[in-house]
Amino acid sequence: MSIPHVDVRAQYAPLLDELKERLAVVLDSGRFILGPEVRAFEEEAAAYLGARHAVGVANGTDALVLVLEGLGVGPGDEVVCPAFTFYATAEAVSRVGATPVFCDIDPATLNLDPADAAARLTGRTKAILAVHLFGRPAALDQLPGDVLVVEDAAQAFGASLGSLRVGAAGAAGTFSFFPTKNLFGLGDGGLVVTSDDELAERVRLLRFHGSRDKERFEAVGMNSRLDEIQAAALRLFLGHLDEWNQARREAAARYADLGLAELCELPEDESGHVYHMYVVRSPERDRIADALRAADIGCATYYTTPLHLQPVYAGLGYAPGSLAKSERAARETIALPLWAGIGAGQQEAVVATIRTAVTAGAAA
Ligand SMILES: Cc1ncc(COP(=O)(O)O)c(C=O)c1O
Repeated sequence: MSIPHVDVRAQYAPLLDELKERLAVVLDSGRFILGPEVRAFEEEAAAYLGARHAVGVANGTDALVLVLEGLGVGPGDEVVCPAFTFYATAEAVSRVGATPVFCDIDPATLNLDPADAAARLTGRTKAILAVHLFGRPAALDQLPGDVLVVEDAAQAFGASLGSLRVGAAGAAGTFSFFPTKNLFGLGDGGLVVTSDDELAERVRLLRFHGSRDKERFEAVGMNSRLDEIQAAALRLFLGHLDEWNQARREAAARYADLGLAELCELPEDESGHVYHMYVVRSPERDRIADALRAADIGCATYYTTPLHLQPVYAGLGYAPGSLAKSERAARETIALPLWAGIGAGQQEAVVATIRTAVTAGAAA
C-alpha cells in the first residue's frame, strides 16, 4: 500500500466544485493582487484568530521579516529563538541584520524551553521569537513578561493556548500558507497578525514598497503581497479549518490506539495541538525511516541539523553538544503520515511497518 506523508489533495477534493466557483469569480474580476478577496480574508482571519489586524503577504518568511522590520529590529539587536525549527525562523532575524541567539528545547514538547530562552536574554535582546512547532503551542505563558514575544505560527493555524489562538497571543504572529500547512493556499502565501495598530500600519506600508498610494515612498519596503486567487481559496478553507484540525487530532489519537506507544515515543497529548505534523521519536529513527520508505510509506525527518550547527551560523560559535536537547531531537524525530482524512487502514499499515522494523532492530 503506497501511503503519502501528506495528502493535500485529499483534503480539498470534497470542496473542488466550490473551489472552482470561487476561483472563477476572481478570474471574471480580472483583479489579482490585493483586492476584495484579500481584504475579506484579512478580516475573516483576524476575527478567527481574535486579533485586531491581519495583513496578507507573499509567504511566511516575508511575514517574519516584515514583523521584525516593523518592530524596528535591526543590526546590533538580538532575537532569541529555538535551535530546532525550520531555517526561515532564524533566517528572517539575520535578514533584518539582527543576530539570532539560539536556545534549547523542552524534549517533551519539542518547543523552546522557556527557562533557557529567559537565560539567554541580554541588554541587546529585542524579542523572543517563539515557534509553535509541528502545530503544538509553545509555552508563551512561561516566558518573562518584560520582553517582546513574536510568534512564528507558520505550522499552527487554529492551535490554541487556553482561550487564545496562537499568532494572536504575543505582540505579533506570522503564518505560512505553503500547501502542506494546516491552513493552506494553492501556492505561496503568508499572514501577519497583530493587535498593535501602529505595527499593522507599518507592515502594510512595508509589504508594498513603503508606499500607501504608489506615488509617495516613505520607507524601503518590499513587494510582498497576497494575491486574490490565494485569498479566495484561503477563505473557503478557513471555513473548514476547525473540522480539519479535529480530524488531525482524531488521527493522532488513533496512532496511540493502534499501539504505536509500544514502539516509539509519541507526542504528549495536548488539547490546543493541531498536529501540523505527527512527530514521534526513537533512537531507532533511521531504521524506522528506512523501513517506511522501503514499504512506500511517506515520512520526513525534519531539521536533521539544528540551526546552531548550520554552516550559515558557524561564525556564531556554537559547538556540537551546546544545545544537546535540540541535537538529540534532530537525531531521533520522524514525522509519520498524517492529514485530515487519513484512513484507519493507512495508519494500521504505518504502525505494522514500524513494528516490523523495531522488532528486527531488537533481534539484531
Ligand atoms: C516554522 C516555520 N517558519 C517559517 C516558515 C516559512 O514559511 P514560507 O515557506 O511560507 O516562507 C515555515 C515554512 O515552512 C515554517 O515551517
